[in-house]
Amino acid sequence: MVRIVFNAHLVHKQGMANDKPEFDIKASVARLLDRPIVLVGLMGAGKTRFGRVLADALDVRFFDSDMEIEKASGMSIPEVFDRFGEPYFRDGERRVIKRLMEQGVCVIATGGGAVMNPETAGHIWDKTISIWVRAPMSVMLERTGRSDRRPLLRDKDPEEVLGGLADVRYPIYQKANIVVDSDGGPVDTVLIQALEKLYSFLQKR
Ligand code: S3P
Repeated sequence: MVRIVFNAHLVHKQGMANDKPEFDIKASVARLLDRPIVLVGLMGAGKTRFGRVLADALDVRFFDSDMEIEKASGMSIPEVFDRFGEPYFRDGERRVIKRLMEQGVCVIATGGGAVMNPETAGHIWDKTISIWVRAPMSVMLERTGRSDRRPLLRDKDPEEVLGGLADVRYPIYQKANIVVDSDGGPVDTVLIQALEKLYSFLQKR
């Protein structure tokens, strides 16, 4: 048996003694990675925040598809929706994610609707390590309520919209290789959960 080490955090598994050799889970996951990690999940689930922390832990680059669309278009996401409409945004999203998935080992946070495009979804399931970042409705409502960056929620009842999207999208998100629960607690807890699941998944591949 070994002790699992996360930098300063020592995670003591039941029955593990302190004099056992240490096992650096971040380095072990990083060593096994040969393709991008792609985060999927609804708005407000915490993909961007968690994605940055995961990329940092693995010492790889982080990309957020919405931010890349904003960079490429020189507009905010609400502006893209307002000026050109959702189909235009979706096409840009498809192209941006295709380009990001060609970047080798990295972490990519996708917009909540990205996997509704069958081509994008096919690529994610076949060519990346996919993680569904799942959060309770109350957490997503709280997080999305903090800004007006999400055009699909503007002037609508957010609970109704997110509930409807969950019905349609959860059966798709659940095709991801790994599910990580982000319950609004410290992001480090989500990281530890993700590293353990990633290690176990990558070892069995
Ligand atoms: C969307 C989610 C948003 C953004 C756009 C549409 C969606 O990204 O891409 O507003 O369809 O769920 P986040 O999931 O990062 O909020």
